[in-house]
Amino acid sequence: METILTGVRINDEPTLGNFLGAILPMTRLAEKYHRTHKINVFVPDLHSIISDIDGEMSQNILRGLKYYYAAGLPTSDNILLYRQSYVPAHSELTWILNCIATMGEMGRMIQYKEKSEGGRDSANVAIFDYPVLMAADILLYSAKYVPVGEDQFQHLELTRDLALRFNNRFGEVFTLPSTTAEQAEFMGLSSGLRIRDLQNPEKKMSKSNPNANAKILLSDPPEVAYKKIMSATTDSLGKIDYDMFNQPGISNLLQILALLTNTTLDDVTARWAGEDSYGVFKQTVATVVADFLTDFQAKYNSVPDSVISKQLERGQIAANQIAEAKLLEVQQAVGLR
Ligand code: TYM
Repeated sequence: METILTGVRINDEPTLGNFLGAILPMTRLAEKYHRTHKINVFVPDLHSIISDIDGEMSQNILRGLKYYYAAGLPTSDNILLYRQSYVPAHSELTWILNCIATMGEMGRMIQYKEKSEGGRDSANVAIFDYPVLMAADILLYSAKYVPVGEDQFQHLELTRDLALRFNNRFGEVFTLPSTTAEQAEFMGLSSGLRIRDLQNPEKKMSKSNPNANAKILLSDPPEVAYKKIMSATTDSLGKIDYDMFNQPGISNLLQILALLTNTTLDDVTARWAGEDSYGVFKQTVATVVADFLTDFQAKYNSVPDSVISKQLERGQIAANQIAEAKLLEVQQAVGLR
């Protein structure tokens, strides 16, 4: 059975970008494939403490997993829920992979460059090294498909590079995850997904952006989200078309509309072609977003904690077994065992 795996950090409230880029695709893939594939939904809690250690991470775990259930994740024996820090093999494999990863390739990671902009000397080592931990998260479970947004594609490529390098040196230990083009296709997309900042659509919508109007949080009151969409930056071209280069704001709204209504981007774009009123278009998107949040938040509040705790207990045992077996193969391959 092939494995589909993803994780979302829990240090901040997730945005609509996290939802549309990872939580929703993972849930839809799980609905479609949970009888034929293994599905791993895990909380990267070690990744989550990189930006700030506030001593309260463990309390965010249930919240982080509830989003998937609110989105419709089925319960099935093939779906494993676990916390990264409860499976020590993740950290152990990270160290071994650190020994084959190079400073050059790690220094080229865009996320690292962006996050250390305030000063390389004061940035913590984890910001530099976190893609290797991500590679370990994926390779321990031989995951083939990793539904993530486009901002994580470079890390998937690094994962493939490290796996290939390891296999070439030490034998066929790791399964390579699919290429990023194949990943996008598996998610039903023509390329990686990047939901844009509402105020500056040149940038991605980011949970760490202090400007509340730039992002929609899954916990935003629907009427607040409505206003954020209405005040989203667009352009003065007066046509509704999907053109990320010339009309990133409008294209972003078309993308959000397509995903939330489970329609293809082509169909949504065709529906709005020839229309010129940004006001009517924005009202439509704003209503869809507000209705989505109303429904999602009601579902979120009705997920009992006990469902998740039970799945976590089972998932943790199973995850440790799979991860330890793979780690042992790695340790033997490099001569530690
Ligand atoms: P994180 O927590 O920053 O983001 C979680 C997921 O949300 C996606 N995402 C977006 N997608 C589309 N548009 C956006 N504006 C947008 N913003 C965020 C991200 O691409 C991601 O899929 N390193 C990862 C977490 C991680 C992981 C893993 C993921 C750790 N180990 C192993 C997959 C497999 C991260 O920091 O994502």
